[in-house]
Amino acid sequence: MKWKRKSLFWTKMVKRMNFKEEYQRRLDSVETVLRNYLPEQTGKQRIIMEAMEYSLLAGGKRIRPILMKESYDLFGGNGQIIEPFMAAIEMIHTYSLVHDDLPAMDNDEYRRGRKTTHIVYGEDIGILAGDALLNYAFETACTAFDLEPSESRQIGQALQILAKKAGIYGMIGGQVVDVKESGHKISEETLNFIYRLKTSALIESSVMVGAVLAGASDKEVSLMEEIAGKIGLAFQIQDDILDVTGTTEKLGKPVHSDEKNEKTTYVTWRGLEDSGKEAARLTEEAVASLESIGGDGRFLVELLRWLVYREN
Ligand code: IPE
Ligand code: IPE
Ligand code: MG
Ligand code: MG
Ligand code: MG
Repeated sequence: MKWKRKSLFWTKMVKRMNFKEEYQRRLDSVETVLRNYLPEQTGKQRIIMEAMEYSLLAGGKRIRPILMKESYDLFGGNGQIIEPFMAAIEMIHTYSLVHDDLPAMDNDEYRRGRKTTHIVYGEDIGILAGDALLNYAFETACTAFDLEPSESRQIGQALQILAKKAGIYGMIGGQVVDVKESGHKISEETLNFIYRLKTSALIESSVMVGAVLAGASDKEVSLMEEIAGKIGLAFQIQDDILDVTGTTEKLGKPVHSDEKNEKTTYVTWRGLEDSGKEAARLTEEAVASLESIGGDGRFLVELLRWLVYREN
């Protein structure tokens, strides 16, 4: 029952914290990190650097690098090696969006409040910009070896996590089943499989990388993975809700994309109200597990609760 007392304590502390300000501060530092790690626009291939920057610096909530840094801090990390990994996870996530919007996939024309990369640069460069962001993410993350050669074991482990969670057992695997299972009804099990992979996997890798680089134990890393699995599910459910109830102005991307692409989502399967309840339930489960870890997780708790009621 110890965590319950702690939970009340945290709730009070969180009320005293100015969440918007705290979030903005973190958002600003992610923007700085991203600018620092973007490649210079030069050479005959400079259009690809331009397209990478166009998609990466278009805004976005930056929750993956923010979660990564919070996890790093929670486990006592205090070095610079987290920064190339923060840039890398946002590059991987942005590539997944650039490809997700392509005509062969969701065929959407707006993202982060602007025309999608393939609309501005053409499909060829859109595809290559996604490829480039994915590859450059790993080039960037590998610079951590130069920053802290003595931590090469943790850096290697973090790279493995990043690669696996973005790949066929992670985000790509989920996207594959998502596109292949469009157009017809799917089981609850398949829906959960898709969400766990296409969305939770990158969120899991964010907090796992933060924990590993801070020197957390295997047990702690696994607990963070489990927590992030729930956060990811709640996050995708809210994304599906907003696809139905949101506006393009607020979201910066088209609404009713799921209906257009005949996707089964939590909303089509269980309705808006139940989906909202499920997202809130998963979030509170994640919060309770987080509190069992100890440390200063006030901002994290507030962030998770904001995510589930977010309007964009
Ligand atoms: C959109 O991710 C794709 C999903 C996994 C739902 P975000 O909602 O994090 O998109 P940005 O980064 O804020 O644009
Ligand atoms: C995509 O899910 C998740 C990714 C891995 C990109 P969605 O297709 O629902 O994401 P949005 O709504 O286009 O952002
Ligand atoms: Mg999609
Ligand atoms: Mg989409
Ligand atoms: Mg969506």
